[in-house]
Amino acid sequence: MHNKLTIDWNDFLTNYWQKKPVILRDAFTHFIDPITPDELAGLAMEEEIESRIVSNKNGIWDAKFGPFIDFNNLGEDHWTLLVQAVDHWHEQAATLVEPFKCIPQWQFEDLMISYATQGAGVGPHIDNYDVFIIQGKGCRRWRVGDRNPNYKQFSAHKALLHVENYQPIIDEEITAGDILYIPIGFPHNGVSIGESMSYSVGFRTQTSQELISGFADYIIDTLPSGIFYQDPDLKLPRDPYRIEAYELTKLQDQMIELIKTPTLFNDWFGKYITLPMHVLNIVPVEPPYSYSEFKSLLQSGAKLYRVPSIRILKIGDCGYIHGEKIDLPMPVIDLLCENEELHYEQLPDDKTLEIMLNLVNKGYWYFTE
Ligand code: SIN
Ligand code: CO
Repeated sequence: MHNKLTIDWNDFLTNYWQKKPVILRDAFTHFIDPITPDELAGLAMEEEIESRIVSNKNGIWDAKFGPFIDFNNLGEDHWTLLVQAVDHWHEQAATLVEPFKCIPQWQFEDLMISYATQGAGVGPHIDNYDVFIIQGKGCRRWRVGDRNPNYKQFSAHKALLHVENYQPIIDEEITAGDILYIPIGFPHNGVSIGESMSYSVGFRTQTSQELISGFADYIIDTLPSGIFYQDPDLKLPRDPYRIEAYELTKLQDQMIELIKTPTLFNDWFGKYITLPMHVLNIVPVEPPYSYSEFKSLLQSGAKLYRVPSIRILKIGDCGYIHGEKIDLPMPVIDLLCENEELHYEQLPDDKTLEIMLNLVNKGYWYFTE
């Protein structure tokens, strides 16, 4: 059973997206939690899954990182378990991100799930991403403040960056099926009333610093030789110790020219943005399938299933997956993006099968019955 989301997306984008927080009451009617607290605890015991437990007993903040061996000694209240990228590992929980696939997928980060006991939360803080917090079972009181670059932040614990007191612009309780949307930069604090589950669908973009550094790495690896500053029109300067404004402009243009070269920028961004933000459940095939083995499996009706939440995106005529370019024409790339499950009849020719064989052997798709 999938939960059904009702949002007027045009109204939401016009009035709220990256502008202001809002509570969307009953956005999922008759919401059913897609995962139990026990299952969440099970995921938090796995090595490759990021998890933490935050507690605030008697006003003392503490944070511990998984994997966890047991959950004894935590007491009845004032602790919360948070598990990152659950969409990579739990099929039913992953269905919660489906209704958000109309938002540009290159900005999607993950589904984080928290289980909180009475009085628990992670404290007042500011996030570097936009988030839709879906309330599951139970109830949480949220206080959200306005955006303000002057808020002071401090470490309540070495792993917990908190923000000083702020005046709430939202101070409300939410219950199952309600969504609290919080844009990047707005301080917020959610406190659980009794036991509760929250599902955070996060969207993250890159900083200019990350973009420049990522692109710089790419061009260093890609361009065979250095491109040097040249000024054949040079006239004797009045002050040879001064770097002239026109020279600074020429230097900027030299850098911008590379950024504006689509064959470089697009290819870099496609590869960069499809790299995973959290560990994926990718298992390379060992020993790899041969071409004939692969083809006969498909012909016998075996279906290919794309690794949950592996990043696959399109730029211009090209498709990218998991940091690499897919050497297939756009109609096939469209098919790969739109279908999480593939069967033989959808794969048009031997060239497609050969490329798919390589991607399957790397573990990006796998066979299911
Ligand atoms: C939580 O789910 O407990 C924390 C969500 C958040 O404030 O970002
Ligand atoms: Co937050």
